[in-house]
Amino acid sequence: MRKFIAAANWKMNCTKEQAKTLVEDLLAISHTLDKRHLVVLGVPFPYLIMVKDLVGQNNEFFSVAAQNLHHKVSGAFTGEVSAPMLASIGVEYVIIGHSERREQFGEDGALLKQKVDIALEYGLKPIFCCGEPLEVREAGNEQEYVRRQLHESLFHLTAEQMKHVVIAYEPIWAIGTGKTATVQQAQDMHFHLRAMLIKQYDENVANTISILYGGSVKADNAESLFNCPSVDGGLVGGASLIAADFEKIIEGLKR
Ligand code: PGA
Repeated sequence: MRKFIAAANWKMNCTKEQAKTLVEDLLAISHTLDKRHLVVLGVPFPYLIMVKDLVGQNNEFFSVAAQNLHHKVSGAFTGEVSAPMLASIGVEYVIIGHSERREQFGEDGALLKQKVDIALEYGLKPIFCCGEPLEVREAGNEQEYVRRQLHESLFHLTAEQMKHVVIAYEPIWAIGTGKTATVQQAQDMHFHLRAMLIKQYDENVANTISILYGGSVKADNAESLFNCPSVDGGLVGGASLIAADFEKIIEGLKR
């Protein structure tokens, strides 16, 4: 069965000391988790090795994610980080297609497809982000928009490859705005996403894939969002930087 996941996306935040303290605080709560649950820490590149060491090699409740990767294996790409580099330090997940990268760094569906492919080739599990801007939601075209994003970057994968992907639905109008999608909006889109997976693959694949909600998930709304039958956890930005808040969000996974 698929996992219920609380994934942190720290974005470009924290000094090394802050990162260490935050992870140590979170690790102290692992005894309340069980094998259906997973916490994924999406931290900036400079802290990946440290966080991986803090989490330990065989931690069944905590995994580490990079927030990006380059689509080529190696070469003259100053400042970039490759899939084999991430795999060689034991990173398990990589966030791909976050709306901030799509909007601010010009990453389009074709490029994200290459990133998904190289991640899987090196054994990294993509946390693939999709989600519509406000004007698309207001025009009522959000399902079609998200369907296109999945077709562009994911649906070329085989069923076996697809089982290693996590999908994060993050409506852009809800990211960092404090304007969370309603429980019904989240449930409707997640139901639609799983229906798409059934249509493209089959029930077995669709039921293996965790579909996370992201966009202003907070300590006080996580539980009601995660209680939706089609929502398998969250991708959390701002609230993942405060240990007490993220702990509550992790608690919300228990249903
Ligand atoms: P937020 O960010 O929780 O701060 O809205 C979520 C994300 O961008 O992944």
